[in-house]
Amino acid sequence: MAAPKNIVVLTGSGVSAESGVATFRDMGGIWAKYDYREVATPEGFSKNPALVHSFYNDRRRALPTVEPNAAHIALAELEAELGREGGTLTLITQNVDDLHERAGSKKILHMHGELTKASCAACGGVCEWREDLSAELRCAVCAHRGAMRPYVVWFGEIPRFMDEAAYAIMNADLFVSIGTSGSVYPAAGFASEARSLGVPATELNLEPSENAYLFTDSRYGPATEVVPAWVKELLM
Ligand code: OAD
Repeated sequence: MAAPKNIVVLTGSGVSAESGVATFRDMGGIWAKYDYREVATPEGFSKNPALVHSFYNDRRRALPTVEPNAAHIALAELEAELGREGGTLTLITQNVDDLHERAGSKKILHMHGELTKASCAACGGVCEWREDLSAELRCAVCAHRGAMRPYVVWFGEIPRFMDEAAYAIMNADLFVSIGTSGSVYPAAGFASEARSLGVPATELNLEPSENAYLFTDSRYGPATEVVPAWVKELLM
């Protein structure tokens, strides 16, 4: 088989775990400490905006304290190398951190949003945001007070870039899932979408995910080891 030229990579929190960013469903993960209905739903935000702001403020404040790891860097290098050969790497991430950007990845679809942005629920405006958010803030675009929210996708909301993701998978010759448990749709459906189109699929994860049976190739271990090794093999 010819080396793949158009690769779609889906990442989840496992790719950032060794940078010190918590995963969600592993033992002691975020959803063991917080009820997702309280902090990651529109209903939770309406009920207690201060709690939701505090949850995301803590995570935004932690960003400058963490660095991209060898897995983020290997993916950025793979994108650059494929580009030189006339190929593409589309990185779809469920992560709201900015570690892929800081590692040098360029074509990133943040399907669950970004911690470094804020949006206004009144006018839909989106802006860069590095500070804490609060319920008292006024929108810089429409001047509405009290509608600023983290630019993240909550349960019950529609993830971003779904058309772009579907198009990339349709045109891929390899789909790769990295560091995700495969428990949240629509991301969890991408592997079966790829396979139904005849696209081979690789899983790189600490342990078999819920969708492990769908993959044609699987490598298990810490992302900082398995991802650079897989990239090296691919570029040989
Ligand atoms: P999960 O916590 O569900 O899964 C993390 C996955 O990463 C697990 O399969 C772990 O085995 C794996 N993992 C942990 N450490 C790893 C390491 N060092 N190297 C490689 N893999 C490792 O997190 P996600 O799949 O990212 O959505 O969760 C998906 C979505 O659910 C999140 O985007 C978030 C969450 O609720 C929203 O908040 C909307």
